[in-house]
Amino acid sequence: MKKLLLSASVAMMLFSCQKEDNSTNTQVDTAANRGCASHEVLERQMQEDPTLASRMANIDKFTNEAVKAGRLVNGVIEIPVVFNVLYRTTTENTSLAQLQSQIDVLNADFAATNADYNTANNPYSAVRSGNMNIRFVLDQVIRKSTTKTSWGTTDTMKNAKRGGIAATSPTTKLNIWVCTIGGGILGYAQFPGGASSTDGVVLDSKYTGNTGTATAPFNLGRTATHEVGHWLNLRHIWGDATCGSDQVADTPTHDSANYGVPAVGHRSTCSGTPLEMYMNYMDYTDDRGMYMFSAGQKARTAALFVSGGARVSFAQP
Ligand code: ARG
Ligand code: ZN
Ligand code: CA
Repeated sequence: MKKLLLSASVAMMLFSCQKEDNSTNTQVDTAANRGCASHEVLERQMQEDPTLASRMANIDKFTNEAVKAGRLVNGVIEIPVVFNVLYRTTTENTSLAQLQSQIDVLNADFAATNADYNTANNPYSAVRSGNMNIRFVLDQVIRKSTTKTSWGTTDTMKNAKRGGIAATSPTTKLNIWVCTIGGGILGYAQFPGGASSTDGVVLDSKYTGNTGTATAPFNLGRTATHEVGHWLNLRHIWGDATCGSDQVADTPTHDSANYGVPAVGHRSTCSGTPLEMYMNYMDYTDDRGMYMFSAGQKARTAALFVSGGARVSFAQP
């Protein structure tokens, strides 16, 4: 029964994504109106695989129980990262320096050593995550030239038979495909529970790292921070619905996604009109507007690495 209810809530979240795109957002410019790629991809994967919803509901059930019981690991988990670079132009052939800058940003943001972590006037400083205890190490870079001008969000970049690069050891390594996605999509991720062959994160090369071709206002490497957040089971802070739930207790309810850099004191019109946590990596602001995860988000990600967790294969023995 509980299982059924959970599946229903997952399904609701999926189908609200579409509505989110063309409803209440007032700030709809081209940079901002860039869709909800991770959730669109999830919706497609659910249609292709009818067992995915219940797998994900089970992960959420397990997560909530592990969080409640405090059964969480303490040590730092080191995640080897494989970059799969697909390029047509030399500009798209992202340099090693730019890829390394992405690793450095991920390490700073996940360790809470990012320079803007202590930004003044943060009403949520008390629930900041501190160190998420996840470190990223550059493992290898695989490069392949292509004639494709853009790859879209159908995971073809992960399929060698379709001109892409197959994932390397996806149960022990985080695969990040770097390519031109198109359609204004900065990046997308696969949530825990999906197929191994497509597991990982896709980044548009223009929104990778913080140097080289990294392009403002998404030039601080935070697309990867956000997408790796999804890969670690974090939902959008607005719960992909008007006043929706991200299944994290210490993040406030948001009306919808925030774009640009919201004014300090910006409030939600949801029940209780809380101050929105627009500085959270799982919102949609510009890179310079986001600088924290919450303690509740840390607990949710940590639950993936305990015995029986969906990403326990990444935990060090
Ligand atoms: N999946 C989101 C998108 O493609 C990524 C948002 C990342 N936000 C950022 N400031 N870099 O739109
Ligand atoms: Zn997202
Ligand atoms: Ca919440």
